[in-house]
Formats: sequence, structure tokens, C-alpha cells
Amino acid sequence: MTRAIFPGTFDPLHLGHMDVLVKAAKTFDTVIWGIFHNTQKNPKFTIDQRLEMMDAASRDIKRVQVQAFDGLLVDAAKKIQATHIVRSMRVGMDFDYEFPMTLINRKLAPELITVYFPAEQNHFHISSSIVRELIAYKQDLREYVPAEILEYVQ
Ligand code: COA
Repeated sequence: MTRAIFPGTFDPLHLGHMDVLVKAAKTFDTVIWGIFHNTQKNPKFTIDQRLEMMDAASRDIKRVQVQAFDGLLVDAAKKIQATHIVRSMRVGMDFDYEFPMTLINRKLAPELITVYFPAEQNHFHISSSIVRELIAYKQDLREYVPAEILEYVQ
């Protein structure tokens, strides 16, 4: 049985994340969609708000569970008996950030396999920071976030 953990800040989640989540759900037996703390970020949405949005957005995707974690990703992964870590890449600079993180995670927990799902080309320009910027200027978010959370974020 495969059990993947898809970690991130998800502040807020967007269509790029949904694409990765759907692909992970088709690939693994279970996917734990997990909120983790990135020390470089100061989230705008609370953990409860992000969990609520993730619950709503993943309601119709089978075999996905939403959860928030403290501490290291590999510790949480071990605790829930995950077999894989799921991450995504859009452009070259994502690789420069992702690869060292993968190497550290691998050093800490060699048994965990990291897989990257390449982003769809039409999601290259989407990021949580862009979504937050659009929220601040009260712009239409239909092209950026799933319909299930549109009203919530707006
Ligand atoms: N399409 C479009 N955008 C995408 C995307 C896709 N397929 N996949 C990711 N993105 C965007 C996200 O929206 C996010 O945008 P933002 O920076 O504007 O918010 C960005 O790319 C990804 O951000 P990143 O900083 O790479 O990841 P993260 O903050 O979502 O997650 C953690 C990083 C939480 C996984 C990492 O910090 C972590 O593991 N923390 C726990 C502590 C730990 O174990 N640290 C590592 C070992 S020391």
C-alpha cells in the first residue's frame, strides 16, 4: 500500500495545487494533504481557515485526507507511515529550491521516496502569493482557485 504526503503552506491553495493533488490521488492509495510550517513564511490565513478550504476543495477527490502538522516533514511522514513525499515543479528555479530540500529529507529519512509532479503549463504563473495579491486588490479569482473556495477567499 502506498501512502503519500503532499506538504505545503497552502496560503491559500490554488489550481496548481489541485492539479498536483488530483494526480497524486490517481497515483497513490492514500494521500495526506498536509499543512506544514515554512519558517520563511508568515501565513495570511489561519491553519483552521486553510484546513476548511482544503476540506471543501478535496471533498470529491477520493482517498485524500487533510491534516495540519507541527515540526519536521519527515517526522510527520514517519508518524503517519507515509511511503512517498509529493512536491511539484514549475520552472528551473523551483528545482534549485526543491532539490536541496529533497536531499535533506532523504538524509533524515532515507526510506521516504520524494516524487515531483511537473506543473501544467497553464499554472506556471499561479502561486499563493499572486492569489493573496489579487485578494488584496479585490480581483476576480476564478482562474486561480477552485470554485469550492471562491466565495471563501473573496
Ligand atoms: N503550480 C503553481 N504553483 C505552485 C505549484 C504548482 N504546481 N506548486 C507549488 N506552487 C507554488 C505555491 O503556491 C507556493 O507559492 P508561494 O511561495 O507564493 O506561497 C510555492 O510554489 C511553493 O512554495 P514553497 O516555499 O516551495 O513550499 P511551501 O511553503 O508550500 O512548503 C514546506 C514548504 C512546508 C513543505 C517546507 O517548508 C517543510 O517541509 N516544512 C516543515 C519543516 C521541514 O521539514 N523542513 C525541511 C527540512 S529542514
